[in-house]
Amino acid sequence: MPDTLTLIDNRTGQEYTVPITDGTIAAIDLRQIKTSPDDFGLMTYDPAFMNTANCRSSITFIDGDRGILRYRGYPIEELAAKKSFLEVAWLILKGELPSAEELQAWTNDVTMHTMVHENIKKFIDGFQHDAHPMGIFLSTVGALSTFYPDAKHVLDAANRRLQIRRLVAKVPTIAAYAYRHHRGLPYVLPDNDLTYPGNFLNLLFKMTEAKYTVNPVLERALDVLFILHADHEQNCSTTTMRGIGSALSDPYSCVAGAAAALYGPLHGGANEAVLRMLAEIGTTANIPGFIERVKQGEGRLMGFGHRIYKSYDPRARILKEMAHQVFAVTGRNPMLDIALELEKIALEDEYFVSRKLYPNVDFYSGLIYQSLKFPVAMFPVLFAIPRTVGWLAQWEEMLLDKDQKIARPRQIYTGVMERHLPEFEKAAAGKPKA
Ligand code: CMC
Repeated sequence: MPDTLTLIDNRTGQEYTVPITDGTIAAIDLRQIKTSPDDFGLMTYDPAFMNTANCRSSITFIDGDRGILRYRGYPIEELAAKKSFLEVAWLILKGELPSAEELQAWTNDVTMHTMVHENIKKFIDGFQHDAHPMGIFLSTVGALSTFYPDAKHVLDAANRRLQIRRLVAKVPTIAAYAYRHHRGLPYVLPDNDLTYPGNFLNLLFKMTEAKYTVNPVLERALDVLFILHADHEQNCSTTTMRGIGSALSDPYSCVAGAAAALYGPLHGGANEAVLRMLAEIGTTANIPGFIERVKQGEGRLMGFGHRIYKSYDPRARILKEMAHQVFAVTGRNPMLDIALELEKIALEDEYFVSRKLYPNVDFYSGLIYQSLKFPVAMFPVLFAIPRTVGWLAQWEEMLLDKDQKIARPRQIYTGVMERHLPEFEKAAAGKPKA
């Protein structure tokens, strides 16, 4: 059977055959379908890209119906069980897991780039004391482009490698400084003896002690959280990253834009919204009333539902398990009972079942973050740190993809076609109409 699609335009009776490649037709192949020679040609209308592939990618595979997530072919469950975030970051960026030597060099490179220019601290100091840490984070990452003007050479492979190292290394420092500013605490220096998540905990929580002692359970929990959030194919922030990057903007500006997309409550801001929702519910007795209000359309059950997953989000399953390990160290988060009961009721309710609404990654991550003593405003920042790796891998893939050009969707114009200021009406009357 030929891999083609035959279309008949009932306006003209004309038949067209277009190739099918990888389960898609190229939208540009529809342009030949016209009613007259001066017709622009047929386009597709797809708000929110519900059924449009924007790129070819070999980074992350998701099967939303079967609840599968793989980075470069490896199941997320295996990576979360056995690998460190820096190994997974290398895998996502390079396509293969690092050898022992590559991992050592990569760890060393990242560790050596964790410090930020002193002026970055002054820049952060300029924010209001109660500024949202995500606002500080995305502005500061954007500001880095002024510290590294060489980053504009995005078509130079060695330059890209350097900026990627810098970004992966510096985002935890900026995130921690955003938190310290938010709390009115002095900034501390990175500790090169510690792991990537261990150093992040040090940057956040070190007080007057000479050396910060990292709790290994919490360090591993953070590492796993980072692995789970590292990439998620063509989501809103990644699409933003690719879109900005397609104009050949520098990677700091691109990451700032992607972080701005992640800030939204329907995306990375959802974990913050989950905690606020659980606090609002207050006790398990209030759950039925809350569910009823959601079903009436008065708000959403935050941390539930996903554009792609129409079964349990595999990341949520890993986090639900991990929550118990973390709570063994930090003490049980009292909101866990509300979350578990809410999940139980929602998974049995016809409204949620028929719409295939299951817990997503944000449903349990917020509870863990809270037990690790993060204020809710830090939750989207904690998402942005590991996602920087995914954004950068997708950005580089886009730059190297011969099919890609500057992103520029079409529109269906619905406004007034032509009108004139009174002074020009007479002159326009004589001209042919568009
Ligand atoms: N609570 C109640 N109803 C919901 C929810 C929810 N969380 N999510 C979707 N629905 C309903 C929605 O009202 C609609 O019902 P109807 O067909 O009767 O109008 C139906 O389910 C389909 O919803 P949709 O808005 O068309 O679905 P979408 O694919 O556009 O939205 C979503 C996906 C994630 C934005 C949405 O499920 C949502 O708002 N969830 C809550 C926010 C959240 O947890 N976001 C985190 C996403 S995972 C992390 C990330 O990738 O950023």
